[in-house]
Amino acid sequence: MSNPAPEVPAVRLQGIGKRFPGVIANDNINIDVMRGTIHAIVGENGAGKSTLMKILYGVQRPDSGTIEVDGTQVSMGSPADAIKAGVGMVFQHFQLADNLTVLENVVLGAEKLHGIGGRARQRIVEISDSYSLGVEPDELVEDLGVGARQRVEILKVLYRGARTIILDEPTAVLVPQEVDELFGNLRGLKEEGLAVIFISHKLDEVLSVADEITVIRRGTTVTTVTDPSSVTARDLAELMVGSELPRASSEASTVTDEVLLSVQSLSLPGSGARPLLDDLSFDIHRGEILGIAGVEGNGQAELVEAIMGMRERATGSIRLIDTDLSSASTRQRRESGIGYIPEDRHRHGLLLDSPLWENRVLGHQGRPPSVKHGIVDKRAARQDTLRIIDEYDVRTPGPGVLARALSGGNQQKLIVGREMSGDPILLIAAHPTRGVDVGAQAAIWNHIKTARREGLAVLLISADLDELIGLSDRIEVILRGRFVGSFDPSDVTPQQLGSAMTGAGASA
Ligand SMILES: Nc1ncnc2c1ncn2[C@@H]1O[C@H](COP(=O)(O)OP(=O)(O)OP(=O)(O)O)[C@@H](O)[C@H]1O
Ligand SMILES: [Mg+2]
Repeated sequence: MSNPAPEVPAVRLQGIGKRFPGVIANDNINIDVMRGTIHAIVGENGAGKSTLMKILYGVQRPDSGTIEVDGTQVSMGSPADAIKAGVGMVFQHFQLADNLTVLENVVLGAEKLHGIGGRARQRIVEISDSYSLGVEPDELVEDLGVGARQRVEILKVLYRGARTIILDEPTAVLVPQEVDELFGNLRGLKEEGLAVIFISHKLDEVLSVADEITVIRRGTTVTTVTDPSSVTARDLAELMVGSELPRASSEASTVTDEVLLSVQSLSLPGSGARPLLDDLSFDIHRGEILGIAGVEGNGQAELVEAIMGMRERATGSIRLIDTDLSSASTRQRRESGIGYIPEDRHRHGLLLDSPLWENRVLGHQGRPPSVKHGIVDKRAARQDTLRIIDEYDVRTPGPGVLARALSGGNQQKLIVGREMSGDPILLIAAHPTRGVDVGAQAAIWNHIKTARREGLAVLLISADLDELIGLSDRIEVILRGRFVGSFDPSDVTPQQLGSAMTGAGASA
């Protein structure tokens, strides 16, 4: 290392504390983040990672503690203060305006829109080139994929002069190839002397990219690992939890001959000549998990939405046991026994400003236990929410809390618990463990496997190939709206799936 010896940290967080009603989110957190490093922060869902980052970025005020940037104490009263101090944040839910260009998005808030000239465009090109971000100023954001949007967010932060960049779970939405690209970008940033703070639940990724790793448990810093090569993912997980982890169980096949879901010739036209879904036919049997692998944007979201009755232009037939659902409403489909874990939990899964017990009823109106004679039974809803909180280990003071106050992973656990309620016949699960910690992931897998043993059929969409391989009984690869290869999970590697997903290995 050519770095000069004792350095002043890029960011020093000392004694940070933050309480919410009934919750101590941060309790005496101490972290030094050095320049020219990627510093990972890991911890269970609800451990306080996002809260800490919001404090550093001036979105939230700490109750106690100090923040130093390059050796100088600063008060982060707002994101504007953070940006002035050279600290930028890339949020998990991107904050880009779809209908504007990259250029417009990047300068938005930084300069007056009508003043955008060649200078801004030129700087964008310069930044993009020097960090190999591949960002084109005149592209419309709505035409960009997830990975490219993320690079725009990073560029936006760099454009504002950030020397410390916070990324809160940036890889949760990325497929493996995009993760590699992002890590290349992050390494480029650190080589230029920036500090990168990176939060992730994917401990293998953390170990591959981080120079230092701070573990947070229940709001407090447990330790900072300064030599990541000295620890394993399991070591980290056990530091996070403070005890041994549950192991995901493996078990014999439970697939039966009985077809529960039958999809025939499902198609969905796109805006151009190429359909979004192109004549898909498949069955899912009682006790079977069918996994769908694909690079984001190849029809998996549309497939889920078509099965859920959210795509009016879809054609073809969909039967659940004896019921023809082809022209049923979304509500009818749910009521006939389909549980649905949506891809975007903020848009389709939760009412963020409603309490948890109301969210328990969401999408399940008209079904017991929480609804009696068409009227919401508040007591029963609260009771059943308590059951989910308990069974799925949702970390929260209680069912009266607003969904917004849950940490990201705990929101996800609540949705999974709700959709597994009432003995569904079929579960449509899009990224069921996105954003949950490793312990909770194993727990959710075990819940799904238990239900499968009892006869549940599952359509599983996931960007996590280990999850697809570990859970599925069969994997179909989707590419441009078509199934291009069928794999036996017990006999396929993530690499083989990856090449089929990009069309390289698609011979089927
Ligand atoms: N605005 C808020 N109001 C009330 N409680 C909150 C609020 N924001 C966070 N909390 C609580 O603070 C705790 C820490 O939440 P935080 O979002 O920081 O966790 P996290 O480590 O980022 O978890 P995850 O991995 O699930 O994203 C949680 O118990 C959460 O419910
Ligand atoms: Mg978080």
